[in-house]
Amino acid sequence: MRVLGIETSCDETAAAVYDGTVGLLSHALHSQVQMHAEYGGVVPELASRDHVRRLLPLIQTALADAHTQPEQLDGVAYTAGPGLVGALLVGGAVARSLAFAWGRPALGVHHLEGHLLAPMLEATPPEFPFLALLVSGGHTLLAVVRGLGEYEIIGSSLDDAAGEAFDKTAKLLGLPYPGGPALAALARSGRAGKFQFPRPMLDRPGLDFSFSGLKTAVVVATRDLKLDEQTRADVACEFQQAVVETLVAKCARAATQTGMKTLVIAGGVGANQALRTELGALGRRAGLQILYPRPEFCTDNAAMIAYAGYRRLAGGEHDELKIRASARWPLDTLRPPPHSS
Ligand code: KG4
Ligand code: ZN
Repeated sequence: MRVLGIETSCDETAAAVYDGTVGLLSHALHSQVQMHAEYGGVVPELASRDHVRRLLPLIQTALADAHTQPEQLDGVAYTAGPGLVGALLVGGAVARSLAFAWGRPALGVHHLEGHLLAPMLEATPPEFPFLALLVSGGHTLLAVVRGLGEYEIIGSSLDDAAGEAFDKTAKLLGLPYPGGPALAALARSGRAGKFQFPRPMLDRPGLDFSFSGLKTAVVVATRDLKLDEQTRADVACEFQQAVVETLVAKCARAATQTGMKTLVIAGGVGANQALRTELGALGRRAGLQILYPRPEFCTDNAAMIAYAGYRRLAGGEHDELKIRASARWPLDTLRPPPHSS
C-alpha cells in the first residue's frame, strides 16, 4: 500500500509518499519561518495563504521524487488537527479533492500521532509499548504508547508548552523567531550558574509540567539588567538548563512509574542538543533505550503523516466524503483502526 501524506497544520507545508513494503519514498517541505519571522510569530492568515501557494507544487515534487503516478497511490492522508484551522483546511481540502478525483480513500490524521510515530521511520524503530515525551511548540506531554491509537497520557503541561517557553524567552532576549534554535545557539556561549531559575514542578509528585513560571522568572531576573551579549547568553544557558533538567527528571520518574525500558522523544524541542545530552546520561543511568526521529522528522513534516495515514488506512480506516479540520483534538480520544496489526 502506498500513501501520499500532507501536512499543513502550522507553518510548514509538506508532502511525502510512504510505501508499506519499501518504506519512505520521498518527502518535500517548505518552511514559512522567514515569512513569519518579520512578525515575531506565526500569522495564521499568512500561513493559510502560503499553504495555498506551496502545497500543489510540493505534492508534485513528492510524487516525482517517489517515481509515483497518482494511480499507484492507495490513499491520501492529511493532518486534520490539532492546529491552525485555516491552515488545516487548506491541506484537508486539497487532500480530500485529490483523493476524490483519483478515486482513492482519504484520511484525516492526528498531528501528534504523527509525531509519536515518527521514530518508526528510522532504521531502529521502537517496539510497542514504549514511553514517549512529546515536546513541540504547542504541546508537552508524556504518554504510554501501547500500540497504534492506544495512547495513555500520563503527564502534560498545565500552561505553556516547552517549545512555547523557548520561543517566548527567546523573544524576551531579542532573538528572532523561531526562538528555540536561536536560544539554544546563544546558550552555547553562556556560563552556567550565573542566574538561578526554578525547576518547575520538580518539588511536587506527578508527571505534569508547568513552564510559565520559568518564563516569569526570566522576566524578573532580567528586568533591571543591561542585556549585553554575555548576559543574554548566560540567561539562555540557565533557562535551557532549567527546561532540560525538568524534562529529564519527569522522564526518569515516568520510566520508574511505568517500568518502560524504551523512551521515544518527539517534537521540535527534541532537536535540542542539551536535552539529547542529558537524556543520553539518563539512558545510561537507568538502562533506558532512548530513540529519536532524525532531526528533520522531529519538527513538522509530512513523512510522519504519510506513515500514520498508511498504518490507519492499512488497518481498514478511512473517512467519508468530508473535509476534517479540528483546531483542538485531544490525543487520548484516538482509537486503534478496525484491523490493527
Ligand atoms: O514540532 P514542531 O516543529 O511544531 C509544533 O508542532 O509545534 O516544534 C516547534 C517548536 C518551536 O517552539 C521551536 O522553537 C522548538 O520546537 N525547537 C527547539 C529547537 N528546535 C526547534 N527548541 C529548543 N531547541 C531546539 N534546538
Ligand atoms: Zn508538530
